[in-house]
Amino acid sequence: MIEFQDVTLAYNSNIVMNKISFSARFHEKIAVLGGSGEGKTTLLRLILGLVRPDSGTILIDGEDITRMSESELREVRMKFSIVFQEGALFDSLNVRENVAFCLREYSNYSEEEIDKYVRELLNKLGIEEAIDLMPEELSGGMQRRVAIARSLAGCSPKMVLYDEATTGLDPLTADNICSVIRELSSGDPPERTGFIIVTHKVTDAVKVAERFIYIKNGEITFDGNLPALRDTGDAELRRFTDELHIAEKCM
Ligand SMILES: Nc1ncnc2c1ncn2[C@@H]1O[C@H](COP(=O)(O)OP(=O)(O)O)[C@@H](O)[C@H]1O
Ligand SMILES: [Mg+2]
Repeated sequence: MIEFQDVTLAYNSNIVMNKISFSARFHEKIAVLGGSGEGKTTLLRLILGLVRPDSGTILIDGEDITRMSESELREVRMKFSIVFQEGALFDSLNVRENVAFCLREYSNYSEEEIDKYVRELLNKLGIEEAIDLMPEELSGGMQRRVAIARSLAGCSPKMVLYDEATTGLDPLTADNICSVIRELSSGDPPERTGFIIVTHKVTDAVKVAERFIYIKNGEITFDGNLPALRDTGDAELRRFTDELHIAEKCM
Protein backbone atom coordinates (compact mmCIF):
# COMPACT_ATOMS: atom_id res chain seq x y z
CA MET A 1 0.00 0.00 0.00
CA ILE A 2 1.21 3.49 -0.90
CA GLU A 3 -0.05 6.47 1.07
CA PHE A 4 0.74 10.12 0.39
CA GLN A 5 -0.38 12.46 3.17
CA ASP A 6 -0.17 16.21 2.45
CA VAL A 7 3.03 15.79 0.46
CA THR A 8 4.62 19.06 -0.55
CA LEU A 9 7.73 19.51 -2.68
CA ALA A 10 9.18 22.60 -4.32
CA TYR A 11 12.29 23.24 -6.36
CA ASN A 12 13.13 26.80 -5.32
CA SER A 13 9.92 28.72 -6.04
CA ASN A 14 8.55 26.01 -8.33
CA ILE A 15 5.92 24.15 -6.28
CA VAL A 16 5.66 20.70 -7.88
CA MET A 17 3.53 18.97 -5.20
CA ASN A 18 1.15 21.05 -3.10
CA LYS A 19 -0.26 18.98 -0.21
CA ILE A 20 -0.90 15.91 -2.35
CA SER A 21 -2.80 13.08 -0.67
CA PHE A 22 -3.84 9.74 -2.15
CA SER A 23 -3.48 6.07 -1.44
CA ALA A 24 -3.04 3.09 -3.71
CA ARG A 25 -2.94 -0.66 -3.26
CA PHE A 26 -0.20 -2.61 -4.96
CA HIS A 27 -2.62 -4.57 -7.14
CA GLU A 28 -4.26 -1.48 -8.62
CA LYS A 29 -3.84 -0.41 -12.25
CA ILE A 30 -3.32 3.32 -12.11
CA ALA A 31 -2.50 5.96 -14.70
CA VAL A 32 -1.16 9.27 -13.43
CA LEU A 33 -1.97 11.85 -16.08
CA GLY A 34 -0.68 15.35 -16.54
CA GLY A 35 1.03 17.68 -18.94
CA SER A 36 4.76 18.01 -19.32
CA GLY A 37 6.45 19.33 -16.18
CA GLU A 38 3.44 18.72 -13.91
CA GLY A 39 5.39 16.39 -11.60
CA LYS A 40 4.62 12.89 -12.89
CA THR A 41 8.21 11.63 -12.82
CA THR A 42 8.70 13.35 -9.46
CA LEU A 43 5.77 11.37 -8.07
CA LEU A 44 7.51 8.10 -8.95
CA ARG A 45 10.78 9.36 -7.50
CA LEU A 46 8.98 10.21 -4.24
CA ILE A 47 7.51 6.69 -4.03
CA LEU A 48 11.01 5.23 -4.35
CA GLY A 49 12.55 7.67 -1.88
CA LEU A 50 14.81 9.09 -4.59
CA VAL A 51 13.64 12.55 -3.56
CA ARG A 52 12.29 13.52 -0.16
CA PRO A 53 9.28 15.81 0.31
CA ASP A 54 9.66 19.18 2.04
CA SER A 55 6.71 18.26 4.24
CA GLY A 56 4.08 15.57 4.54
CA THR A 57 4.40 11.81 4.90
CA ILE A 58 4.81 8.95 2.46
CA LEU A 59 3.98 5.51 3.82
CA ILE A 60 4.83 2.30 2.00
CA ASP A 61 3.21 -0.71 3.67
CA GLY A 62 2.61 1.51 6.68
CA GLU A 63 6.25 2.56 7.04
CA ASP A 64 7.17 6.23 6.79
CA ILE A 65 9.88 6.39 4.11
CA THR A 66 10.47 10.12 4.33
CA ARG A 67 12.97 9.74 7.15
CA MET A 68 14.52 6.41 6.19
CA SER A 69 18.22 5.80 5.70
CA GLU A 70 19.52 4.67 2.29
CA SER A 71 19.83 1.05 3.45
CA GLU A 72 16.25 1.00 4.74
CA LEU A 73 15.10 2.56 1.47
CA ARG A 74 16.77 -0.23 -0.48
CA GLU A 75 14.35 -2.71 1.12
CA VAL A 76 11.42 -0.49 0.15
CA ARG A 77 12.63 -0.16 -3.44
CA MET A 78 12.69 -3.97 -3.76
CA LYS A 79 8.89 -3.88 -3.69
CA PHE A 80 8.85 -2.06 -7.02
CA SER A 81 10.32 -2.40 -10.42
CA ILE A 82 10.69 0.72 -12.49
CA VAL A 83 10.83 1.27 -16.20
CA PHE A 84 12.44 4.66 -16.69
CA GLN A 85 11.30 7.28 -19.17
CA GLU A 86 12.33 6.37 -22.76
CA GLY A 87 13.53 3.00 -21.39
CA ALA A 88 17.19 3.83 -21.78
CA LEU A 89 19.42 0.77 -22.32
CA PHE A 90 23.20 0.51 -22.00
CA ASP A 91 24.33 1.09 -25.61
CA SER A 92 27.52 -0.94 -25.32
CA LEU A 93 25.84 -4.06 -23.90
CA ASN A 94 23.78 -6.56 -25.85
CA VAL A 95 20.24 -7.55 -24.83
CA ARG A 96 21.39 -10.48 -22.66
CA GLU A 97 23.87 -8.28 -20.79
CA ASN A 98 21.38 -5.44 -20.39
CA VAL A 99 18.78 -7.72 -18.82
CA ALA A 100 21.36 -9.58 -16.70
CA PHE A 101 23.05 -6.41 -15.48
CA CYS A 102 21.48 -6.23 -12.00
CA LEU A 103 21.61 -9.99 -11.52
CA ARG A 104 25.35 -9.95 -12.15
CA GLU A 105 25.83 -6.99 -9.84
CA TYR A 106 23.61 -7.97 -6.96
CA SER A 107 23.02 -11.74 -6.96
CA ASN A 108 25.08 -14.89 -6.56
CA TYR A 109 23.57 -16.69 -9.53
CA SER A 110 25.92 -18.68 -11.76
CA GLU A 111 26.28 -17.61 -15.41
CA GLU A 112 24.20 -20.65 -16.40
CA GLU A 113 21.39 -19.69 -14.07
CA ILE A 114 21.49 -16.11 -15.27
CA ASP A 115 21.30 -17.21 -18.90
CA LYS A 116 18.31 -19.44 -18.21
CA TYR A 117 16.55 -16.72 -16.26
CA VAL A 118 17.20 -14.05 -18.90
CA ARG A 119 15.88 -16.34 -21.64
CA GLU A 120 12.71 -17.04 -19.68
CA LEU A 121 12.12 -13.35 -19.13
CA LEU A 122 12.73 -12.45 -22.79
CA ASN A 123 10.46 -15.29 -23.83
CA LYS A 124 7.71 -13.93 -21.59
CA LEU A 125 8.02 -10.58 -23.37
CA GLY A 126 8.17 -12.23 -26.79
CA ILE A 127 11.70 -11.12 -27.72
CA GLU A 128 13.88 -14.18 -27.01
CA GLU A 129 15.25 -14.06 -30.56
CA ALA A 130 16.84 -10.68 -29.83
CA ILE A 131 19.05 -11.99 -27.02
CA ASP A 132 22.37 -11.44 -28.83
CA LEU A 133 21.49 -8.15 -30.55
CA MET A 134 22.77 -4.71 -29.58
CA PRO A 135 20.26 -1.98 -28.62
CA GLU A 136 20.93 -0.06 -31.87
CA GLU A 137 19.78 -3.11 -33.84
CA LEU A 138 16.37 -3.12 -32.15
CA SER A 139 13.17 -1.31 -33.06
CA GLY A 140 11.81 1.21 -30.55
CA GLY A 141 9.20 -1.25 -29.35
CA MET A 142 11.76 -4.01 -28.80
CA GLN A 143 14.01 -1.63 -26.89
CA ARG A 144 11.10 -0.80 -24.60
CA ARG A 145 10.42 -4.52 -24.06
CA VAL A 146 14.05 -5.10 -23.15
CA ALA A 147 13.83 -2.20 -20.69
CA ILE A 148 10.76 -3.81 -19.12
CA ALA A 149 12.55 -7.19 -18.95
CA ARG A 150 15.54 -5.53 -17.32
CA SER A 151 13.37 -3.83 -14.70
CA LEU A 152 11.76 -7.15 -13.80
CA ALA A 153 15.03 -9.11 -13.63
CA GLY A 154 16.04 -10.19 -10.17
CA CYS A 155 12.97 -9.03 -8.34
CA SER A 156 9.39 -10.10 -7.92
CA PRO A 157 7.85 -6.66 -7.58
CA LYS A 158 4.56 -5.98 -5.86
CA MET A 159 4.02 -3.14 -8.31
CA VAL A 160 5.61 -1.94 -11.53
CA LEU A 161 6.21 1.77 -12.08
CA TYR A 162 6.28 2.85 -15.73
CA ASP A 163 7.48 6.32 -16.64
CA GLU A 164 6.06 7.26 -20.07
CA ALA A 165 6.34 3.64 -21.24
CA THR A 166 4.71 4.36 -24.60
CA THR A 167 6.00 7.85 -25.29
CA GLY A 168 7.97 8.28 -28.50
CA LEU A 169 6.60 5.09 -30.06
CA ASP A 170 4.41 4.87 -33.15
CA PRO A 171 0.75 3.98 -32.38
CA LEU A 172 1.04 0.30 -33.33
CA THR A 173 4.16 -0.24 -31.22
CA ALA A 174 2.67 1.72 -28.33
CA ASP A 175 -0.37 -0.55 -28.55
CA ASN A 176 1.95 -3.51 -28.36
CA ILE A 177 3.62 -2.22 -25.20
CA CYS A 178 0.15 -1.62 -23.71
CA SER A 179 -0.56 -5.35 -24.26
CA VAL A 180 2.68 -6.25 -22.46
CA ILE A 181 1.73 -3.99 -19.54
CA ARG A 182 -1.72 -5.58 -19.34
CA GLU A 183 -0.29 -9.10 -19.51
CA LEU A 184 2.22 -8.48 -16.73
CA SER A 185 -0.64 -7.34 -14.50
CA SER A 186 -3.18 -10.00 -15.41
CA GLY A 187 -4.87 -12.09 -12.74
CA ASP A 188 -7.10 -11.08 -9.90
CA PRO A 189 -6.47 -8.85 -6.92
CA PRO A 190 -5.08 -9.01 -4.32
CA GLU A 191 -2.38 -11.35 -5.72
CA ARG A 192 -1.83 -9.62 -9.04
CA THR A 193 1.05 -7.24 -9.59
CA GLY A 194 -0.40 -3.80 -10.23
CA PHE A 195 1.18 -0.77 -11.80
CA ILE A 196 1.36 2.96 -11.92
CA ILE A 197 1.99 4.32 -15.38
CA VAL A 198 2.68 8.03 -15.56
CA THR A 199 1.96 9.44 -18.98
CA HIS A 200 0.61 12.40 -20.91
CA LYS A 201 -0.87 10.01 -23.50
CA VAL A 202 -4.49 9.61 -22.45
CA THR A 203 -5.33 7.24 -25.28
CA ASP A 204 -2.69 4.76 -24.07
CA ALA A 205 -3.61 5.23 -20.40
CA VAL A 206 -7.20 4.12 -21.03
CA LYS A 207 -5.96 0.94 -22.72
CA VAL A 208 -4.25 -0.27 -19.55
CA ALA A 209 -5.49 1.47 -16.40
CA GLU A 210 -8.63 1.23 -14.26
CA ARG A 211 -8.01 4.28 -12.12
CA PHE A 212 -6.93 7.70 -13.34
CA ILE A 213 -5.27 10.45 -11.35
CA TYR A 214 -4.77 13.86 -12.95
CA ILE A 215 -2.15 16.27 -11.64
CA LYS A 216 -2.35 19.97 -12.43
CA ASN A 217 -0.49 22.84 -10.75
CA GLY A 218 0.79 20.58 -7.99
CA GLU A 219 -2.63 19.24 -7.08
CA ILE A 220 -4.69 16.15 -7.81
CA THR A 221 -7.76 17.57 -9.54
CA PHE A 222 -9.23 14.21 -10.55
CA ASP A 223 -9.08 10.69 -9.15
CA GLY A 224 -11.55 8.20 -10.54
CA ASN A 225 -12.46 5.46 -13.01
CA LEU A 226 -12.88 5.62 -16.79
CA PRO A 227 -16.60 6.51 -16.91
CA ALA A 228 -15.94 9.37 -14.48
CA LEU A 229 -12.97 10.51 -16.57
CA ARG A 230 -15.08 10.55 -19.73
CA ASP A 231 -17.86 12.48 -18.01
CA THR A 232 -15.74 14.96 -16.11
CA GLY A 233 -17.12 18.48 -15.96
CA ASP A 234 -13.66 19.93 -15.27
CA ALA A 235 -12.98 22.08 -18.35
CA GLU A 236 -9.20 21.79 -18.03
CA LEU A 237 -9.28 17.99 -17.75
CA ARG A 238 -11.75 17.80 -20.63
CA ARG A 239 -9.27 19.69 -22.80
CA PHE A 240 -6.54 17.27 -21.71
CA THR A 241 -8.70 14.25 -22.52
CA ASP A 242 -9.99 15.73 -25.79
CA GLU A 243 -8.17 13.05 -27.73
CA LEU A 244 -10.44 10.46 -26.12
CA HIS A 245 -13.60 12.16 -27.28
CA ILE A 246 -12.18 12.63 -30.77
CA ALA A 247 -11.18 8.96 -30.94
CA GLU A 248 -14.71 7.94 -29.95
CA LYS A 249 -16.34 10.16 -32.59
CA CYS A 250 -14.23 8.45 -35.27
CA MET A 251 -15.45 5.01 -34.25
N1 LIG B 1 16.16 17.92 -9.81
C1 LIG B 1 15.37 18.97 -10.15
N2 LIG B 1 15.78 20.25 -9.89
C2 LIG B 1 15.00 21.30 -10.19
N3 LIG B 1 13.80 21.20 -10.79
C3 LIG B 1 13.35 19.98 -11.09
C4 LIG B 1 14.10 18.80 -10.79
N4 LIG B 1 13.40 17.70 -11.19
C5 LIG B 1 12.25 18.18 -11.72
N5 LIG B 1 12.21 19.53 -11.66
C6 LIG B 1 11.09 20.39 -12.11
O1 LIG B 1 9.93 19.91 -11.48
C7 LIG B 1 8.81 19.96 -12.36
C8 LIG B 1 8.23 18.57 -12.51
O2 LIG B 1 9.14 17.74 -13.20
P1 LIG B 1 8.78 16.26 -13.63
O3 LIG B 1 8.34 15.50 -12.43
O4 LIG B 1 9.94 15.72 -14.36
O5 LIG B 1 7.53 16.49 -14.60
P2 LIG B 1 6.86 15.49 -15.66
O6 LIG B 1 7.44 14.13 -15.46
O7 LIG B 1 5.40 15.57 -15.34
O8 LIG B 1 7.13 16.05 -17.02
C9 LIG B 1 9.33 20.56 -13.66
O9 LIG B 1 9.06 21.94 -13.63
C10 LIG B 1 10.82 20.30 -13.60
O10 LIG B 1 11.51 21.29 -14.32
MG1 LIG C 1 8.44 12.87 -16.75
